[in-house]
Amino acid sequence: RITSVSLRRVLDSRGNPTVEADVLTESGGFGRGAAPSGASTGEFEAIELPASESIAKAREHAVPRLEGLYAGDQRAVDNALRAADGTDDFSAIGANSAVAISMAAAKAAADVLGAPLYQHLGGAFRGDNFPVPLGNVVGGGEHAKEATDIQEFLAAPVGAPSVSEAVFANAAVHAAVADVLDERGIPAAKGDEGAWAPPISDAEAFEVVEEAVETVESEVGFEIRFGLDMAAAELYDEAEDAYVYGDGTKTTDEQVEYVAELVDEYDLAYVEDPLDENDYEAFAELTDRVGDRTLICGDDLFVTNVERLQEGIDVGAANSILIKPNQIGTLSDAFDAVELAHRNDMECAISHRSGETEDTTIAHLAVATDAAYIKTGTVGGERTAKLNELVRIADDAV
Ligand code: PGA
Ligand code: ZN
Repeated sequence: RITSVSLRRVLDSRGNPTVEADVLTESGGFGRGAAPSGASTGEFEAIELPASESIAKAREHAVPRLEGLYAGDQRAVDNALRAADGTDDFSAIGANSAVAISMAAAKAAADVLGAPLYQHLGGAFRGDNFPVPLGNVVGGGEHAKEATDIQEFLAAPVGAPSVSEAVFANAAVHAAVADVLDERGIPAAKGDEGAWAPPISDAEAFEVVEEAVETVESEVGFEIRFGLDMAAAELYDEAEDAYVYGDGTKTTDEQVEYVAELVDEYDLAYVEDPLDENDYEAFAELTDRVGDRTLICGDDLFVTNVERLQEGIDVGAANSILIKPNQIGTLSDAFDAVELAHRNDMECAISHRSGETEDTTIAHLAVATDAAYIKTGTVGGERTAKLNELVRIADDAV
């Protein structure tokens, strides 16, 4: 049973304060979780409060309800967090404290059981598949100024024989991108997730990434494709009713056409948020056109929310969903979204945020839920924390 929940402010990868939770149990179990933070957040996400405010509210309202609960009963813990908050979007205590506590409780329970977290979360009937890591290698948007309009170009080593080879392939693509940029005399800083953020057009970025992927593919000898997170809600201008790029605008029809052409020209494996987060209809049109050969994934569209996901299922808006526990506030809610997606033959990608910590929960979550993909960057300590944990899980060394 939970005997104490302590909360503190720690740094995230952008240097902003975030919430870390420690959960202790009567039998000596210990778990620690830390909340990530988005920059291109969806309009319908659960609410993140300033860390100190969220901590104060959670201490007052949530902690007293948690003490005495069995840490292994994740639903009870997460229901107590919801009851303590009393809103639909965690705007009272903050989704940042909620998700930190939810993850810390799961880890404390795993500790009591002496089981790795993925085993505790996934249970005895878990499959033995590993997720393909989507590696952000070039990006811009809200994650880097003066770089590409498209937020993320993602290496997708779909043919990798093991998770370890996939992780190293993504790192090799990241390095190969640096070489291609260097040859072209293009300087590049890194964006928030560690991807190269060169001051080039999207068209040139496609060339650079394609060349880097082909180089690494021929070195490793297995299939590497690539994909995108267009984060199109950030490109969409409501007043103009158009997608605004550095070199012009596109109507919704033009955007659908553009993305469909990109899918075919570059054999894209994955396209996240190709359209605005309110446009289920255009999502459905695009999925109808290219969903047989690529994953159309809803991030800002679904925000890990089962109601929004069900709306999407009803109209065929996408064939995959991005899962971010902090978008919805608890692990139980994230599991519900995964289950609903899987029941409807949709793939899941478990995802980090642009602001991250060393917390490795999402690596365990991806394995526990049998997710097809994990999106957690390529380089940088807060990203490699998850990737290396995935390698350890595959090696049975956690
Ligand atoms: P965010 O971006 O964490 O800044 O919201 C990640 C994403 O859009 O997938
Ligand atoms: Zn996204």
